[in-house]
Amino acid sequence: MRAIAIMNNKGGVGKTVTAINLADILVRDHGKRVVLVDCDGQANLTRFFAPCMDADPGEAVTTADILTGDCEPIWSDNLLPVREGLALLPSSSGLYDLDVDAIKDGVSAPENLRHFAESAREDDEADFLLFDCPPGYTVASVAALLAADEVVIPVTADAFSIAGVMAVWKQLRTIQRTRPGLRATALLTQTRRADVVTAGEEMLRNLGVPVFDAKIRRTDKVPESTMSLSPLAEYSPGSAAARDYRIWVRELLMMGGVIRGR
Ligand SMILES: Nc1ncnc2c1ncn2[C@@H]1O[C@H](COP(=O)(O)OP(=O)(O)OP(=O)(O)O)[C@@H](O)[C@H]1O
Ligand SMILES: [Mg+2]
Repeated sequence: MRAIAIMNNKGGVGKTVTAINLADILVRDHGKRVVLVDCDGQANLTRFFAPCMDADPGEAVTTADILTGDCEPIWSDNLLPVREGLALLPSSSGLYDLDVDAIKDGVSAPENLRHFAESAREDDEADFLLFDCPPGYTVASVAALLAADEVVIPVTADAFSIAGVMAVWKQLRTIQRTRPGLRATALLTQTRRADVVTAGEEMLRNLGVPVFDAKIRRTDKVPESTMSLSPLAEYSPGSAAARDYRIWVRELLMMGGVIRGR
């Protein structure tokens, strides 16, 4: 099993769109078993795959429950089935409560998410565990980084987004002291034919950040697909971004569990 955190400190760079389409393509094209973990209190991923839950998770176990330990003892009993091969651990406003409690009382248990990932690995019931992180450091995003063996950092070609990559990169260095196997790679998203994209990629490489060869082009089909709650391969399979995500997923799979890193 590969546990991948999709993270950038910067908001709006395409983390959730990447999580959605990575999960969908892994299941649809490659027959993989995927578990998505929504680590973001904004719950965009949850709204996409389980719109009925919206802000109210009802009886469902959420990521916040896993973090507090208020969940079923068997990891897979906590999941919400989405479709064959795809399950979700949904988000809730409980993630915001956790952050407030962590600040107020200084208590948090990020290792609970790592235990969840370890149980999934031991049971061999999932091929991929994907964490959709919020922008910035929260209890859940730190927990995801600690639970993951790989980090994908979506980035747009602009200085603010690249600064977000560098912030994550710096934190990963600290985590790598205890977990040297943790690898991270940047994925350029929302690209277009422009010198600034080439310059952004060059800047990342010069800063020592590995970058995927595949890039995801900007197209209106992406926001349209989120409005229709359909992944790109279903909503607009011929669109540039749908094709790019498929090419990127093949690159990710070819890395065979080891994403390049330094
Ligand atoms: N390739 C693309 N082409 C066009 N628009 C895109 C593309 N990728 C993402 N977007 C749009 O950019 C916006 C941000 O995307 P997304 O929500 O995935 O970012 P995010 O990093 O998860 O944001 P947040 O940090 O708030 O969680 C959305 O409106 C989405 O539709
Ligand atoms: Mg998001």
